[in-house]
Amino acid sequence: MTLLEGLRAAVGVEHVLTEADLTGSYETDWTRRFSGRSACVVRPADTAQVAEIVRLCAEHGAPVVLQGGNTGLVGAGVPAGGEVLLSLARLTQLDPVDLDAGQVTVGAGVTLAALQAHARAAGLDFGVDLAARDSATVGGLAATNAGGIRVLRYGSMDVQVAGLEAVLADGSVMTRLTGLAKDNTGYDLVRLLVGSEGTLAVITRLRLRLVPQLRERAVALVAVDGVAGALSVLRQLKPLLPDLSAAELFLADGLDLVCGKLGLSRPFPQDHPAYLVVECAGPVDPTDAMVDALSQADGLRDATVAKDAPTRRALWDYREKHTEAISLAGVPVKLDVCLPLGALTEFVDGLPGAVAAVAPEAVVVLFGHLNEGNLHVNVLGAGEAAGAVTTVVLERVASYAGSISSEHGVGRSKAAYLGLSRSPVEVALMRSVKQALDPQGLLSPGVLLL
Ligand code: MLT
Ligand code: ZN
Repeated sequence: MTLLEGLRAAVGVEHVLTEADLTGSYETDWTRRFSGRSACVVRPADTAQVAEIVRLCAEHGAPVVLQGGNTGLVGAGVPAGGEVLLSLARLTQLDPVDLDAGQVTVGAGVTLAALQAHARAAGLDFGVDLAARDSATVGGLAATNAGGIRVLRYGSMDVQVAGLEAVLADGSVMTRLTGLAKDNTGYDLVRLLVGSEGTLAVITRLRLRLVPQLRERAVALVAVDGVAGALSVLRQLKPLLPDLSAAELFLADGLDLVCGKLGLSRPFPQDHPAYLVVECAGPVDPTDAMVDALSQADGLRDATVAKDAPTRRALWDYREKHTEAISLAGVPVKLDVCLPLGALTEFVDGLPGAVAAVAPEAVVVLFGHLNEGNLHVNVLGAGEAAGAVTTVVLERVASYAGSISSEHGVGRSKAAYLGLSRSPVEVALMRSVKQALDPQGLLSPGVLLL
């Protein structure tokens, strides 16, 4: 039996796509920067089918690339050329919420928005949230250890994952879904797979921790002098606002782009160098506390507090529409980096000059998750200098002891730069782990480890 015949027998003919007009949307990533032809796209419906697909690929020595909602930004979810593209998007099982444990078991293909709706219907919520919520899948979020806008309060995906089920490279299945609160029986294999970017196993189901649903929200947009001003305001607000859930940064150029490309009206009568979106959430309305805290804080050039849900959404749009506005302006070099907070201002101040030295025409758009020092460095118009821009930015990050990947993963785009953030000893250890779990090197080749 050929591999294609085996795959068709495993999942049904209609779920093995080979025609370019059917596979095309799976083969180019969201940014349009990464694309490649696959041997075929396979769309299993459950763990047993995933296991059979992976077993067949191992038998045929066929490399596999894994894809959730195809919202990844580092090229890890699309083929480099010739791999079997395994889409997990049909694994959409939602088990009932376990109210005693405050946990739920879901399929890897459940979107973040569907998970949020499911948890909220049971009076709970999910701790991770991000702009791509309608398409991003929880399997992909776990595989990249995604963060998003509420890390300040709840942490990244690693904190939310209480257990998982995964298909190993030989087709065997590891199931660890009980979500016990305490369990120290040896190596943490669940945590090992979170953030492994599809290189060690195929995550098929997850046991996720839920958080209390906080129905009362307050959102403010604050204008400040620059990154140092934003950090100062955040430092002052934190002790005053125990309900603080988000603190998101963007700069004047980003606001211009969002308003220009998407027709949003400007938030303040005057322009300012930098802006901070802050959100509080709690069981009682935090609006008065937010207004009080902002009136006590020094360094605000202007501020507005939302009065209702549509205005809260409108303030969030200035920040969350950055990715879409940048994409409308072109195909950016997208770099997701993390800096020590003490180095953030100097890093940002020097960045345009460093980029201009290798790409004089390029435009830098910066935004990110301020509390974690997580900046999204988007460089438009780099053209032929895209590689040089990547090198100059990531080397600059490393020179400040930052991380070259904060929450998007290393993927294909930054695999060559892993040594900037990981020592030779660590990279060798990662290779040993990869060799142990995927000795044929068939899972996501070229992703994370070259
Ligand atoms: C975000 O924070 O909006 C996301 O990480 C997406 C992006 O960086 O473009
Ligand atoms: Zn982000």
